[in-house]
Amino acid sequence: MSAPVLTELLTGLDDLSVWPASTAPLPDGHLSVGGVSLADVADRFDTPAYVLDEDEVRARCRTYRAAFPDADVLYAAKAFLSRAMVRWIDEEGLGLDVCSAGELELAVMAGFPAARMVLHGNAKSPRDIETALRLGVGRIVVDSPSEIARIAALVGPGGRQKVLVRVVPGVSAGGHEKIRTGTDGQKFGLSLTDGSAQHAIARVLGQSQLELTGLHCHIGSQIADVKPYLVAVRRMVGLMARIKESHGVTFPELDMGGGHGVAYRPGESTLDLTALARRLGGELSASCAAAGLPVPRLAIEPGRAIAAPAGVAVYRVLAVKHTGSTMFVAVDGGMSDNPRPALYGARYAPRLIGRSATAEPVAATVVGRHCEAGDILAADVLLPGDVRPGDLLAVPVSGAYQLSMASDYNLVGRPPVVAVHDGSARLLVRRETQEDFRRRDIGA
Ligand code: LLP
Repeated sequence: MSAPVLTELLTGLDDLSVWPASTAPLPDGHLSVGGVSLADVADRFDTPAYVLDEDEVRARCRTYRAAFPDADVLYAAKAFLSRAMVRWIDEEGLGLDVCSAGELELAVMAGFPAARMVLHGNAKSPRDIETALRLGVGRIVVDSPSEIARIAALVGPGGRQKVLVRVVPGVSAGGHEKIRTGTDGQKFGLSLTDGSAQHAIARVLGQSQLELTGLHCHIGSQIADVKPYLVAVRRMVGLMARIKESHGVTFPELDMGGGHGVAYRPGESTLDLTALARRLGGELSASCAAAGLPVPRLAIEPGRAIAAPAGVAVYRVLAVKHTGSTMFVAVDGGMSDNPRPALYGARYAPRLIGRSATAEPVAATVVGRHCEAGDILAADVLLPGDVRPGDLLAVPVSGAYQLSMASDYNLVGRPPVVAVHDGSARLLVRRETQEDFRRRDIGA
């Protein structure tokens, strides 16, 4: 590790800037979140465990509502979903973006009004569409030409379903190639450049069972800069102007998707929501005025920016090994509860908790317990040189796209989710057990 990198990491060791706002150091190297010591969570619920700070989730929802008072803010359920999460989102007045019958049904079961949900999906199954129509989902986002007739047929004569059309505006943005969705050559949406968006819009307008209330785009995820959103909004308004010219219709809604980036490690940049709100709103009004269009109501779909910073993963160290110049610290979770480093090269800043560390920090690579060498949670991080089996490591910014993408690899079992609030901890989702595996596997 180079000297500047080492210095940067060392300064980050006491930096709690990416942790939930409620995080507080306690004596003897302990740390509390939501007024609850993380070591106590580990004792009570065992490890690995995911801790979710309820107040942090709610505060983030409120920040969005305050920054975008005139827009619909829909939480993207794919980031993390549970019944409690659904209730918090509902109580904070947000809508919900879902992308399967599963997410939709869980949210409805938890009492969320289907009318405040938008259904996405590049390949909606018959069950997705039937469930959406049966439960009365607010909007369905058309993502391919073939689903136009399918949705219309399932709506049936006399019915009418509100839909949006997902447009690919030709804007490249996002933290990794696998999560860039704003340009052609990837599977989502209908291209503005080759005319498939225009074509699909014309077909939707010709279906009496479908009411086209507006356009949608989602250019990518983990975007830290406002500019790509501004380019996208200009292109979307340009398309709306062409649709007005050719079909004489204007749309009351424009959904600009999510993708708002967060810092995973101290010093990384975060998308500035106030700047986004101001500049996106300004650009939308200006472009609409220039095109002679009424300004549509804006919708946004943040997932990560609401859930990720509210979550902390807590692991126990199982083994420490020195191989060559690397200190491998192996914990009791790994790529089955967090596939993000393996998938996107995501970087995290784990921290020793539960005892004071006196040893000098050394470079370490935190790995999981799974049977492959790519099972790395955090490469090249600093941990006390005496880190040993039995120690606890906590990883902040773990609330999004970790458990929602978790797997049963090696039948380790997915960790529980524990909510912390006002000094108390409660189980939201229990740990997956041997019994769960046995029950699903019905083979004789
Ligand atoms: N809207 C749509 C249509 C989406 O596809 C997504 C995310 C969102 C909203 C929310 O995006 P967010 O605000 O959370 O960035 N597993 C990846 C991220 C995949 C994002 C997929 N779509 C990761 O862990 O980075």
